Amino acid sequence: MLGRELARVLAPRDPILWDRHSFDITDAAAVHRAISQARPSVVIHLAAYTKVNDCQRHPDLAMSVNSRGVHAVAEAVNAVGARLVYISTDYVFDGRKRSPYTEDDPVSPVNAYGRSKAAGEGNAALVPGALILRCGWLFGAGGRNFVEAIRDQVRNGKPLRVVNDQVGTPIWTGHLATAIAALVDARASGVLHAAASGSCSWYEFAQAIVELCGLNVPVEPISTPPGDTPRPAYSVLSDARLCALGMGPLPEWREGLREYLRAL
Ligand SMILES: NC(=O)c1ccc[n+]([C@@H]2O[C@H](COP(=O)([O-])OP(=O)(O)OC[C@H]3O[C@@H](n4cnc5c(N)ncnc54)[C@H](OP(=O)(O)O)[C@@H]3O)[C@@H](O)[C@H]2O)c1
Repeated sequence: MLGRELARVLAPRDPILWDRHSFDITDAAAVHRAISQARPSVVIHLAAYTKVNDCQRHPDLAMSVNSRGVHAVAEAVNAVGARLVYISTDYVFDGRKRSPYTEDDPVSPVNAYGRSKAAGEGNAALVPGALILRCGWLFGAGGRNFVEAIRDQVRNGKPLRVVNDQVGTPIWTGHLATAIAALVDARASGVLHAAASGSCSWYEFAQAIVELCGLNVPVEPISTPPGDTPRPAYSVLSDARLCALGMGPLPEWREGLREYLRAL
């Protein structure tokens, strides 16, 4: 999902695009071969096992892709002296705070996906000057995302019952991809939060989707069902450092939603 948008934003620079068909990032030799042949100046590493529920069922696979895969990329990047940008997640936090998480807050993931991405951050940091960019709830073209899930449910006449006890910040991949390109140009490094402005619960996000799509259906707020994969109850990311770098604030999540829907 993010890869497709980033490819669009970076198209004028003629980037090399790799996906699953190019090589498997858990195959360290293949990763090394591809990167040493291409000799890129910057590698932006997005590939990940992103299905949170599946990661919970298959934690070894999550670690393999989201941590050891990053290790393979980091070693190959170091071998050619390139820079690394690694995309991470708000799910590295446990969600017990009630004010936006800063880059200095300790990570403490509550599920297998978050643990594997936090381990991936550690491996990305093996590249001197790596940028570890954490972002919130992505939505955009080219992937199964919450906006499409809600629209599908309405299309299929299913009632909308959406959790109201998990708060974060959705971000449109279009806004994030533009920010990533600017951060690459600025040679930003270290851990950085790239959050859209504002915050909401999944319920409030669903309400906004229904409203902006002109759908006349009720949305019922519910609590996270017992037995669901644990997720942080609050994972809003502070954009203070992004703003201090002159790269923020990013547009509000609702504006991203409007732009995404306009582009459909
Ligand atoms: N989605 C979110 O809400 C969110 C939030 C915060 C951070 N992030 C991070 O942002 C990045 C992009 O997320 P996204 O939602 O755009 O992801 P996505 O749509 O799920 O894309 C991930 C890509 O990685 C590929 N991939 C998976 N395992 C691979 C492997 N072993 N070798 C090679 N490629 C592999 C997938 O290929 P297949 O489709 O063939 O499996 C897919 O093309 C990820 O690093 C993710 O952790 C996402």
